[in-house]
Amino acid sequence: MSRARIVVDRDFTVSEVPRRIFGSFVEHMGRCVYTGIYEPGHPEADERGYRRDVLALVKEMGPTVVRYPGGNFVSGYNWEDGVGPVEDRPVRLDGAWHTVETNAFGLHEFVEWARLADVEVMEAINLGTRGVDAARELVEYANHPGGTRLSDMRIANGAKEPFDIKLWCLGNELDGPWQIGHKTPEEYGRLAQEAAKAMRFVDPTIELVAVGSSNSGMPTFGTWEQTVLRHAYDEVDYISLHAYYQEHDGDAASFLASALDMDYFIESVVSTADAIKASGKHRKQINLSFDEWNVWYQTGLETEDQPSAVAATWREHPRLIEDTYNVTDAVVVGTFLNSLLRHSDRVKIANQAQLVNVIAPIRAEENGPAWRQSIFWPFARTSALARGQVLRTAVTSDVVDTARYGGADVVDVSATWDEENGVVALFLAHRGLEESADVEAVLRGLTATRVTRAEVLTTPEGGDRFSANTIEGETVGLRDLDGVAADGETVTLRLPPLSWAVVQVAVERR
Ligand code: AHR
Repeated sequence: MSRARIVVDRDFTVSEVPRRIFGSFVEHMGRCVYTGIYEPGHPEADERGYRRDVLALVKEMGPTVVRYPGGNFVSGYNWEDGVGPVEDRPVRLDGAWHTVETNAFGLHEFVEWARLADVEVMEAINLGTRGVDAARELVEYANHPGGTRLSDMRIANGAKEPFDIKLWCLGNELDGPWQIGHKTPEEYGRLAQEAAKAMRFVDPTIELVAVGSSNSGMPTFGTWEQTVLRHAYDEVDYISLHAYYQEHDGDAASFLASALDMDYFIESVVSTADAIKASGKHRKQINLSFDEWNVWYQTGLETEDQPSAVAATWREHPRLIEDTYNVTDAVVVGTFLNSLLRHSDRVKIANQAQLVNVIAPIRAEENGPAWRQSIFWPFARTSALARGQVLRTAVTSDVVDTARYGGADVVDVSATWDEENGVVALFLAHRGLEESADVEAVLRGLTATRVTRAEVLTTPEGGDRFSANTIEGETVGLRDLDGVAADGETVTLRLPPLSWAVVQVAVERR
């Protein structure tokens, strides 16, 4: 049996839960848009082509903000191609994903879909092949009320009211040599600064995200952020982080500890941003937008939907990186959400990549059904139940030794306290593969009166850690976690091996 002791104190808070950390991402990539969220002619599609079955799952999962339209795609995209009468929109080659883009879906369709899904739009601009002019024109088209050529074009295209998009990404992964229009940090820093300035001249209320590193292993990681922020500090509000993780060579222990790299990545970017703040004598603080994160099997699984395999032919919405997620992946995703919550004093936006089909919690077949992957559940429950204040967590736990990251607590946790509704929520991931874990949580300054919810995701009956949901059925999901006790200051529970759990207790101030 493993053991973990967690102490939280109602007075030791990290931040109010930034609701934007429960974001997601829709890219014109593979089948995320076409035959994902949008499929005219599907039996579940509404009159505009939006799939109602997918929309229902999106609402159940509860993303708060969705980034669009890419990703690598955006670095070669002309936003003008996606507006106006559909029959007049050009068919183009998308070099990023070797795909034929029909442009049947564009900005108006995404904004309309986002309203149906009840999510905020986070719009990315193309700073790969385009620049300051296209950036400011897009802001004018989207956000200016009317009376100018571009805003009147939006109105003529059917949107009388401005879209009022607040969140804008200044490009995507321009530190990466794979990116169309890849730049040096100097080139990008100056371009981001000027694009930001011109966009703010059009709409001073927007919030801007500068491109950070594509992952913490990039050779330029650190110097990229320094140089970019040295140029653009005053003009931007956030710096981005992207990270994808996977299990390598059956090393489950390291994979389950991947959130330690996420912690390191976040803390390093915070330090870098704050060093530039100090050396530049700035007053304001730059926060973090972790606007792509997930499990993604980039190596080792050479399946026919890898981009390299489809590159031989030009096709519309090819099947690309439709990873199937298992129990282990769901536990890891739970630890990523914990890391984001624990760093919510600085991480104010985060987007799981992506939403449907492409490395996604939701899968949908063309002319077929939609279903939830295992990783759907930690996201759905954390988004729904992480409310109020994030509490600092002091953990004393047995440790798992890992080859990549050293020692990792066997139980990973984040905690929130919703004072208004009188509940504490504990989000727990158990990394141990063999034994159960006994957990004692001490709630200082609060009295736990009863358990209001206790659910666990773990290996299903007769399955193993690779069990996954498929088109045939959903075997990986939540079930009740029995035996949770709330006794005054202490909550006790037992986690099965390899599990993710949420426990919510009613509390009173002590
Ligand atoms: O989410 C898939 C791809 O991963 C995105 O297009 C890109 O930004 C990242 O490298």
